[in-house]
Amino acid sequence: MNPSYYVTTPIYYVNAEPHIGHAYTYCVADTLTRFHRLRGCDVWLVTGTDEHGEKIVEAAAARGIAPRAFTDEISAQFRAVWDEVGLRADRFVRTTDADHARNVQAILQRVHDAGWIELRSYDGLYCVGCERFLTDRDLENGRCRDHERVPEARRESNYFFLMSRAFGWLRDHIEQSPGFIRPARYRNETLAMLRDESGLGDLSISRPKSRLDWGIELPFDRDHVCYVWFDALISYLTGAGYPDDPTFPARWASAEHLIGKDILKPHTIFWPIMLKAAGLAPPRHISVHGYWNIEGRKMSKSLANVLSPLTMRDRYGFEAFRYAALREMSFGLDADLRDASLVERINADLANNLGNLVSRTLNLTERFTGGRVPAPDEGATGEPERELAALAAQTVTSVETLVTDLELHRALEEIFRLVDAANRLMDLRAPWKAAKDPAGEPIVRTTLHAACETLRVVALLLAPFLPVACAEILARIGLPSALETARLPGDALRWGAVPVGAPTRKGSPLFPRLEARKP
Ligand code: MSP
Repeated sequence: MNPSYYVTTPIYYVNAEPHIGHAYTYCVADTLTRFHRLRGCDVWLVTGTDEHGEKIVEAAAARGIAPRAFTDEISAQFRAVWDEVGLRADRFVRTTDADHARNVQAILQRVHDAGWIELRSYDGLYCVGCERFLTDRDLENGRCRDHERVPEARRESNYFFLMSRAFGWLRDHIEQSPGFIRPARYRNETLAMLRDESGLGDLSISRPKSRLDWGIELPFDRDHVCYVWFDALISYLTGAGYPDDPTFPARWASAEHLIGKDILKPHTIFWPIMLKAAGLAPPRHISVHGYWNIEGRKMSKSLANVLSPLTMRDRYGFEAFRYAALREMSFGLDADLRDASLVERINADLANNLGNLVSRTLNLTERFTGGRVPAPDEGATGEPERELAALAAQTVTSVETLVTDLELHRALEEIFRLVDAANRLMDLRAPWKAAKDPAGEPIVRTTLHAACETLRVVALLLAPFLPVACAEILARIGLPSALETARLPGDALRWGAVPVGAPTRKGSPLFPRLEARKP
């Protein structure tokens, strides 16, 4: 059986439209899925929409429609946007799906039966933005730090999940599993939260129906509905086919959750303990990325600078945007999205460096080697060609490690170093000059063979990041269905595997040069 790789994005609240923060996580998930598929894994990608809770009721009311109609509409909009930019999941979980509601109730019942749930009366300050009661440290001048709104004083009977009993267990688990929460700064942040428990405590997991009825009923008390985070996290089980799908255990053992840094606490504290209480193992990885700012400012509705994935597609082409976003953000850190930097990045790497290698290689094969991948000549193979082959092998190995460690920007940097090296070999050997003299024919063949071979290796390594362009590059060197059967790292390490004699095709520029915006 092939190893499994199960990856999730957060499920998105339907009170806002899809934006580039959502799209970035999805692009990372899509890249990882393609990478692991090329490594021979059975991959499974899940995304979805988070549809219950007060926040959604408020948003529906603001539109003057019922929550059900509202969530149907926005959830469909999320799906339509992902479709339009070519991002596809194996399962799209809506928290209003019947199988999901069943899972939430089954888990609640299980956790309740195991003695992890208790009814208490609660008096506190509630923030609808956060969908939870706040603690002192969440407040600044009487307002919620994240939502800048004044919380409401509320007194009600709530069911509590007795999370605090497992803080010691969780600390041990995190300490014993270095890759569980990554990058390390978020592991440290979680450990710091656990060290200073005053910000934590047990978790209120119910809302009285008298106040909120848009949610999943508690199976042991029909007068309450389930707290949205408890409901939402379980979508990761629903997405993996819990409880009956025979592939669920293997998927679950390989689970990787990709999240943004603002939702660290529910994922690294609530979720592992919820799973423990339900008798399930924690996910394998919780991988946390930073925030995108826009031209140096926070992205927010009030600044009217929320960027839609469709705007990105129209401006840069979605695949080029995806490349630039993955290249510009160091996974885990915040990054600034600037039009000028994206244009520069796309022009320098895609239009010039890669685009140039593709177009001159294929122009020259058309002119000098009869539109076919030429055979190399042993006598004309010198130190520069051997160095290129060695660099290719080194790149394959380091890309493998870097992607596995989520250093996507560094993996891309390495791949483009290889593209650069191939361009330099072309400049050095200048096959267009060598072709003027019949004695130069072996140089022409050898150089163009090395260039085609580099394109093959580069396209295999880059395919998880730039799937459409790489399929096209492979097709142009006579390997139209290579991505369906290719295996990493093996095929990329087989220097010389480009099919000699295969027809090459010039085609149009893969990535047009973009114009900078006028200031
Ligand atoms: N519904 C919850 C997640 C439940 S998962 C079981 C939620 N939804 S959200 O729609 O508000 O946010 C989803 C994701 O978008 C989060 O990972 C958040 O970090 C991410 N982002 C929101 N703004 C962002 C940026 N400006 N930049 C990058 N990611 C951002 O939270």
